[in-house]
Amino acid sequence: MRIPIIAGNWKMNKTTSETRAFCPEFIKLIDNVKGVEIVIAPPFTALSAAGDAIRDTIIKLSAQNIFWEEKGAYTGEISPLMLKEIGCGYCIIGHSERRQYFGETDDTVNKKIKTALNYEITPVFCIGEILKEREENRTMAVIGRQLKGGLRDLLESDISRIVIAYEPVWAIGTGKTATPQQAQEAHRFIRDFIRKKAGDKAADGIRILYGGSVTPENIKDLMAQDDIDGALVGGASLKPDSFAAIVRFS
Ligand code: PGA
Repeated sequence: MRIPIIAGNWKMNKTTSETRAFCPEFIKLIDNVKGVEIVIAPPFTALSAAGDAIRDTIIKLSAQNIFWEEKGAYTGEISPLMLKEIGCGYCIIGHSERRQYFGETDDTVNKKIKTALNYEITPVFCIGEILKEREENRTMAVIGRQLKGGLRDLLESDISRIVIAYEPVWAIGTGKTATPQQAQEAHRFIRDFIRKKAGDKAADGIRILYGGSVTPENIKDLMAQDDIDGALVGGASLKPDSFAAIVRFS
């Protein structure tokens, strides 16, 4: 049994005070929810405030990025040690916006995944094709390459500690969700890839989240697919009521 994960990626949204306002409201709305892991990923500056606000609840804390060194002369970066100390159990790695705007590659993503695992932070490893690649029928080739690069040199035991997020780039922030069938097809491909690389146990246990314009309206059909184990939610995670509605539908 794979426990589903609903994770909210706030991206560059919410100040510390906005975070402090969001949390108690959201906590009230998800009271009594069981059988789902709930994760929020505020920006770095709000992590501490969010951590305080969700203490003693079932909500877990995630960062949106990580650097691979523990400390040193790396202006502007945040280390795994810093994230660990403020209670981050998860970290989003290789989000398409980081690949698109900040030059992240399969190589840097691989380093970051290894780092997170070393510090017992669960990587939420993001992959997905751009529109042109889908139109040219290259979706599986692209996500295959991203999986191969991102998971390079990882042991089977490491792979089963990872969460994968399939996020077709053309569906992110566009209101254009992948159909449940399109998402299922990609998720099945990903699970088969893991089966070949790391065996049945890892493949059957690994959680694969869908991301890209997830809303309270479409979550149910997505979650009904065999290989969809949760969602990485951007826009709809910014309001307590819509995020809680997604959590409840999962
Ligand atoms: P979206 O973002 O839900 O706003 O499309 C998802 C994501 O980028 O993780």
